[in-house]
Amino acid sequence: MKGILALLALVAAVTSMENFSGQQVLRILPANDEQVNIVRELENYEDLQLDFWQEPSVPERFIDIRVPFFSLQDVKVYLEFHNIQYSIMIPDLQTLLDEEKRDMKMGRAMENARSTDTFNYATYHTFDEINNFIDTLVAENPGFVSKIEIGKSYQNRPLNVLKFSTGANRPAFWIDTGIHSREWVTQASGLWFAKKIVNDFGRDQSLTATLNRMDILLEIVTNPDGYVYSHTTNRMWRKTRSPNSGSTCIGTDPNRNWDAGFGGGGSSSNPCTETYRGPSANSEPEVKSIVNYVKSHGNIKGFISIHSYSQMLLYPYGYTTARTPDNAELDSVAKVAVDALTSLYGTQYTYGSIISTIYQASGGTIDWTYNQGIKYSYSFELRDTGRYGFALPANQIIPTSEETWLGLTKIIEHTRDNL
Ligand SMILES: *[C@@H]1O[C@H](CO)[C@@H](O)[C@H](O)[C@H]1NC(C)=O
Ligand SMILES: [Zn+2]
Repeated sequence: MKGILALLALVAAVTSMENFSGQQVLRILPANDEQVNIVRELENYEDLQLDFWQEPSVPERFIDIRVPFFSLQDVKVYLEFHNIQYSIMIPDLQTLLDEEKRDMKMGRAMENARSTDTFNYATYHTFDEINNFIDTLVAENPGFVSKIEIGKSYQNRPLNVLKFSTGANRPAFWIDTGIHSREWVTQASGLWFAKKIVNDFGRDQSLTATLNRMDILLEIVTNPDGYVYSHTTNRMWRKTRSPNSGSTCIGTDPNRNWDAGFGGGGSSSNPCTETYRGPSANSEPEVKSIVNYVKSHGNIKGFISIHSYSQMLLYPYGYTTARTPDNAELDSVAKVAVDALTSLYGTQYTYGSIISTIYQASGGTIDWTYNQGIKYSYSFELRDTGRYGFALPANQIIPTSEETWLGLTKIIEHTRDNL
């Protein structure tokens, strides 16, 4: 009997997914600085358990908040009392996640993952499935594609990087996806990019020219512990899974943990927030492993870190309003990339420096890579603009990948032509 109870408890623990039934995502439009501050105040009420999908920044820039059912009334009354405009972006988050789950089941029924030709790029995949994909792609392309394990995550999962290379000692272009684990369209796009590179090499003139001069490095699951957790326990998990001493809250924001303006504005010292910076720069092995790799490689010329959502192409800085010495060039390349991206499906992007386009964010990836001398450091925020947010339907994976690839290609070409 005891054994059966223990087994049942284990099954419950393994299969219990956080239920977002009745939870809404509110879109708030603050009219002035005072209203921005009033909304920001909400971050101090931990009991409300709010999850800021888009942080407060400046007047007229929307703020998206996921609100648990039990806090909805309080939050709405608070906003209405202060005369702050809001609308309901997602009326019931669990409904979207139920659809996502159904899509994944169907997507799996329609694939043969033993080949990357019959792999289903139009569905979301688990960490194990992605690792199998990586091994299959490497096996299919000996001498061209290899796997580098740059380190281990906090929970000891491999940090795998795909390397596309046609010669030794080349300069390299880095792409990572999924450093924020819940941004599932990014890891899914990473898989599509990997196959695109293999398909286009030797066929597409520009990509072939690129790979004859430089390597492409691609880390698809940059935050494996968070990604696994987002599949098994909490779909909305963003941070790493490392514990914090003196707190029951888990995880650090790996995009606030880099040694660039570490600890400054737009990062939190509170382990219970989504933008917790960690106890020190590089405290997270997921970050430290990339830092070590970039430094030891010594010849990475372009670096793109891919996030979602909000449809933006961003360049440094995030921690300071100071412009980089390369601002004009980074801006003009961003414009070319965005024009190319938009040309496919008309998807509208904004672009600019992080601090001027979204908000101040300290300790971010591309500020660090830029300060390391990687001039072409960019970050994408993929689809959408909030209709689905992090719960982007799987039927948008391929169009998102296709359009993003056009933008990425412009940045890669510019880097190649300015080695
Ligand atoms: C989530 O909770 C709701 C309401 O309690 C319930 O009807 C629904 O079946 C649950 N969904 C899942 C996926 O557990
Ligand atoms: Zn992100």
